[in-house]
Amino acid sequence: MAVHQAAIIGLGAIGAGAHAPNYAKNERVQVRYLCDLVPEKSKWAKEHFELKDAEILTDYTELLGRTDYDVVSVCLPNYLHAPVSVDFLNAGKDVLCEKPISVSMEKALEMKEAADRNGRILNIGVVNRFNGYVDELRKIVESGELGEVYHIYCSFRDCRRIPGMGGWFTEKKYSGGGVLIDWGVHYIDLILYILGNPDICTVSGKAFCKLGSPMKDYVFENMWAGPPNYDGVYDVDDSVTGFVRTSGPTISLNGAWAQNIGESECFIDFLGTKGGARLQYGKEFTLTQTADGKVVHHTPEISAPDMFYAEIDAFLDSVETREKNRANIDRVLITQKILNGIYDSSTKNREIVFPS
Ligand SMILES: NC(=O)c1ccc[n+]([C@@H]2O[C@H](COP(=O)([O-])OP(=O)(O)OC[C@H]3O[C@@H](n4cnc5c(N)ncnc54)[C@H](O)[C@@H]3O)[C@@H](O)[C@H]2O)c1
Repeated sequence: MAVHQAAIIGLGAIGAGAHAPNYAKNERVQVRYLCDLVPEKSKWAKEHFELKDAEILTDYTELLGRTDYDVVSVCLPNYLHAPVSVDFLNAGKDVLCEKPISVSMEKALEMKEAADRNGRILNIGVVNRFNGYVDELRKIVESGELGEVYHIYCSFRDCRRIPGMGGWFTEKKYSGGGVLIDWGVHYIDLILYILGNPDICTVSGKAFCKLGSPMKDYVFENMWAGPPNYDGVYDVDDSVTGFVRTSGPTISLNGAWAQNIGESECFIDFLGTKGGARLQYGKEFTLTQTADGKVVHHTPEISAPDMFYAEIDAFLDSVETREKNRANIDRVLITQKILNGIYDSSTKNREIVFPS
């Protein structure tokens, strides 16, 4: 028996690919509204996931005064996360907004303020916090099994993966940035989650806009979120490097949507004095330790529910208990701090020091 009624705003890749199917699977909730500027996208989701009670709209503001739903998923381009989430929070709804929180720290703080002022739940789609392997690795790090974890190295690099060139992903005023804010957000966020959100002391980095500009010179085989729009704008980072000092370990990162290296490399290394772990992004991790004078490697098998299902289920738990869970904006602001710190450092060409 459904207790909650949901509205999904934005039925693009993630709205139709992850939110609609996982609301559909969850018996606690019914999808009441589907809203996208392109009604065919809502119609597709309604038919595909058998959301027979869902009404289709194209203007989300028509929903703000209605009382027959209580939870909202915001699955829109990044620049709309803040204004649309704030509108729904002010309308008294609980919100699950996709990652990144927003295009800037100022906008992210406006969202937190709206959630606090209205006493609403605001979760962010940091879905890796609901990945079974990430959770298990968090327990291992917390238990001290790896000894002192002193450094984390992460790599999210691909050869030719610029999305929707000339669309919202590649125009800074709509996206807030390129590969760092789009892919890096997930890596940085899960590292911080595993480490238990240490204090951030300094951030340094450089964001490069090199291979995608000028757009017509970019050679590729296929393009996700494409095809390219050569009349659009490309002014974001297609690769990035960064270094973060925390109150615990240091973190270094290298990311690329595009680079002149053939292989893709998507992993995170946790380096500890008694052991290390390499987490393959979205997949398993391998531990390297020593025992009886030998080096041993072990890849645990873990069974866990689909992380997108778990993310929505945990959101509904939070809505019912009114308790802030691991994806609440309060716990995720630290990720936005690092993203904006790296961009800030890149622009100013110096390290950014945060007050302790
Ligand atoms: N958690 C994840 O792993 C993950 C994966 C992909 C995308 N995302 C995030 O989800 C968000 C959406 O990304 P996407 O890939 O689905 O983008 P997308 O472009 O495929 O979808 C966005 C949708 O929003 C609609 N839209 C735009 N403005 C609107 C408005 N004012 N009112 C109603 N609908 C509107 C568009 O028509 C489109 O269908 C982004 O913030 C992205 O970072 C998260």
